[in-house]
Amino acid sequence: MREEDDSFDLAPKHMAMPMGWENRSGFVCTPRHAACEGVFTVSFPRGSQVLFASLASAPRCEEDTKPALGLLTTRPATTADGVLLEDARRDPDRGPADVFADNPLLSYLAPGRYAEVRDTLAFPFDAGWSS
Ligand SMILES: Cc1cc2nc3c(=O)[nH]c(=O)nc-3n(C[C@H](O)[C@H](O)[C@H](O)COP(=O)(O)O)c2cc1C
Repeated sequence: MREEDDSFDLAPKHMAMPMGWENRSGFVCTPRHAACEGVFTVSFPRGSQVLFASLASAPRCEEDTKPALGLLTTRPATTADGVLLEDARRDPDRGPADVFADNPLLSYLAPGRYAEVRDTLAFPFDAGWSS
């Protein structure tokens, strides 16, 4: 989300999920968080970025700033007014098994652990299943 000083806010959200079977995402957020308002982008941090991603959840300072955001390298998003974490792109042109193997998914396991998911298997859908 764009801030008043034209910087962008970032915050980790573990209660995030696809919304339906099209390309839509949503997340659960308390209205007390600045990240609850406006347009948002979705980035998938790498395991090597877990500490900086966690620091991005820090409470605001007196000047309503979040200095830890300076630790995260970002690039402008192309279709929304926002930024994406650098080096965290999911490549839609590659098979999902290869993507996860090369770019393990950082996953938060409530209440207080995380994992990097790199070994994945195709889900055994029922033959008549359809979205
Ligand atoms: C691992 C982790 C997961 C989090 N998941 C959520 C979440 O799903 N929903 C939420 O509202 N806040 C979540 N938070 C808290 C927010 O990241 C953060 O504290 C909040 O957005 C404050 O920043 P803001 O005022 O700039 O939005 C999480 C924090 C951590 C460390």
